[in-house]
Amino acid sequence: MKLITGISELVTNSDPTELMARPSLGAGDLHTLTDAALIIDDGKVAWSGPAAEADAALNSLTLAAPDAPVETIDLGGKAVIPGFVDSHNHLVFAGDRSAEFAARMAGEKYSAGGIATTVAATRAATDEGLEANLVHLVDQATRQGTTTFEIKSGYGLTLDDEIRALEIIGRHTPESTLIAAHVVPPEYKADPEAYVALVIDEIIPAAVGKAKWIDVFCEEGAFDEDQTRRIIEAGKSVGMKARLHANQLTQGGALRLGAALGCTSVDHATFASDEDLAVLAEAGTVVTLLPGVEFSTRQPYPDARRYLAAGVRLAIASDCNPGSCFTNSLPFCIAVAVRDMHFTVDQAVWAATAGGAHALDRSDVGHLGAGAQADLVVLDAPSYRHLAYRPGVQLVDRVFAGGELVADNRPQH
Ligand code: NIG
Ligand code: FE
Repeated sequence: MKLITGISELVTNSDPTELMARPSLGAGDLHTLTDAALIIDDGKVAWSGPAAEADAALNSLTLAAPDAPVETIDLGGKAVIPGFVDSHNHLVFAGDRSAEFAARMAGEKYSAGGIATTVAATRAATDEGLEANLVHLVDQATRQGTTTFEIKSGYGLTLDDEIRALEIIGRHTPESTLIAAHVVPPEYKADPEAYVALVIDEIIPAAVGKAKWIDVFCEEGAFDEDQTRRIIEAGKSVGMKARLHANQLTQGGALRLGAALGCTSVDHATFASDEDLAVLAEAGTVVTLLPGVEFSTRQPYPDARRYLAAGVRLAIASDCNPGSCFTNSLPFCIAVAVRDMHFTVDQAVWAATAGGAHALDRSDVGHLGAGAQADLVVLDAPSYRHLAYRPGVQLVDRVFAGGELVADNRPQH
């Protein structure tokens, strides 16, 4: 058992099922406690509340085993938030596209054409090389406070390469996503329908038990709405849950299609009409905004105020990938979301924690109410507001996942 005291501010996000009914976040919805404490037992939050009540809570929790050791950790006045839930990542890849990024910053437009470069490098890479890269990126993100990762395939685009990606992912997270329909690979350029058939008839059946999610890049130059519908339905028919890359580059019908197909989340949504937003709000589909993508592609930032006013529930994720956005820092994404997408600080912190949990259909993460997984971030700051107030500064002091210390950024001297 662990007792964490000296918490200047504790963001609990309370009970996500309650928040689920209130998609437009108002002041106070982070359910923040000041001068708080938290008790962890068996990897879960056993209690959180005012520090003044911690001893009584501890006594009642240890009644059955009064001699059980209790480790006390006094933070001396630091803020604690739930671990970030990063619901959108592409981490199985090889190669470097920094030159493509530099060219974009010098005026070139982002197109998904660069994906083919990564596909070639990924196919040529060893299993060990791919897994080492993924582990490196996961470790990096963990040190920035991420405790739940969704990770996609999508740079293999053959039966064997997509399945090996899922096997690598499955060793590191239960949130594995098959996106064999990322782009049409070069060898199928003359006959995209033959590739759609391969995805539906061979890759999806082989991915059963390896992919929790099915995803499609529904976009001009990738997969059209009819192909997307068929691929998502095929995934759902074998028990996968659905999510979509929608309206990243153009104002098409992908958002509405995602709502109609019962997707848990539609991601990107850089372009969205009022009608799209009304349909998504009505369907209860989470919209996952990816601030790092707009930052790294110089696309226009969507205005979160418009989405929230329409009643849409928002998540923020990184979309860490070698092309459109190579950050895996949710503190950075929060800062951009606040500065350029007009989230309030509270809304952005909620969207990167509880919002991400909704986007993955998880009620055990993204909050620190009793019973939640003890995934939490200690900030080197008195308030969670510093996440946006101090952009680019390493504010993650320590990270606990399942109650265990998994990252410690404190100075070693
Ligand atoms: O989420 N849009 C499609 N896929 C990725 C980008 C992939 C790449 O450029 O390599 C995304 O932005
Ligand atoms: Fe993506």
